[in-house]
Amino acid sequence: MEPKSVFLPDILEGKVALLTGGGSGIGLCIATYFGRHGAKVVLMGRRKQVVDEAAKSLGTEGIQAIGVAGDVRKKEDCMNAVQKTVDEFGRLDILVNGAAGNFLSAAEDLSPNAFKTVMEIDALGTYTMSYAALHYLKKGGQGKQPQEGGVIINISATLHYSAQWYQLHVSAAKAAIDSMTRSLALEWGTDFGIRVNGIAPGPIKDTPGVEKLVVNMDGTVTRDIFLGDKSDIAQTALFFCSEGGKYINGATLPVDGGNWIKSTRYYSTEAVRTFSREYEKRRKAALAASS
Ligand code: HXC
Repeated sequence: MEPKSVFLPDILEGKVALLTGGGSGIGLCIATYFGRHGAKVVLMGRRKQVVDEAAKSLGTEGIQAIGVAGDVRKKEDCMNAVQKTVDEFGRLDILVNGAAGNFLSAAEDLSPNAFKTVMEIDALGTYTMSYAALHYLKKGGQGKQPQEGGVIINISATLHYSAQWYQLHVSAAKAAIDSMTRSLALEWGTDFGIRVNGIAPGPIKDTPGVEKLVVNMDGTVTRDIFLGDKSDIAQTALFFCSEGGKYINGATLPVDGGNWIKSTRYYSTEAVRTFSREYEKRRKAALAASS
């Protein structure tokens, strides 16, 4: 059974949230919790059908939601998603930067383009969406009271607190995101009344990320890792957006059951190294066959 929300049902009444990576996984769960607490939500993702269907399913719960197809690597898609949000719901209060790309690759197998791809989705995408949303998130922005500012939540990770096998690219991107969280909190918090915070999820059940955390190829999870629920991340996001979080700015909170403190290495070495190489060979062969 899904854990009960600890928040009053109307804390986001009248607010509008835009979530990248909102069509599935953690992003969709956050959107669901936001919607259940009164917000109208816009789900952005690369696949139109996925975001449209997710929005429709929220609609069956009585949540006002729309899907917008777009790739955070493209500035025009980011601007378009923000514009569609404001056209549909009249304002923008909360931006959740959740879009991310990930795969396992030993550093010596990682091409510069593979590194660039993940940096562009995770790090540059977080910046571009924030840039696109700034005008509306500012205090006194369209639909807001003069002192009413917005909130940005960046979805980070704990991989880069020490280091993680085969995650050089994602670790670099998430470190950049944490740095941006602080810089934007400083500048936009001070100048525009926008609070910018981050959440660093640990391994979460039923997400694509966690499938990559298995140690054994039979799918069993290493015994030292505690898995979280998507709702653990969603309730943290709600807290950041609520009045209870009004003094929090520039913080990135690990929500990971304490996994990172143990410096657990998620992946075994040789087995996963072989697996990820074989996986990439098969993926490239399939791509070549289909083109
Ligand atoms: C090695 C790979 C690879 C793989 C892609 N590349 N997949 N290299 N192993 N498995 C390389 C390609 O060879 C290419 O480099 C470059 O990356 C770009 O690949 P494309 O396929 O052209 O990119 P694109 O179609 O844009 O796909 C983006 C993607 C993809 C990130 C590569 O994997 C993706 O979108 N994945 C789904 C999203 C996802 O996994 N989300 C979960 C996020 S969870 P070359 O040099 O050949 O051109 C998360 C949590 C983090 O982030 C914490 C987890 C513990």
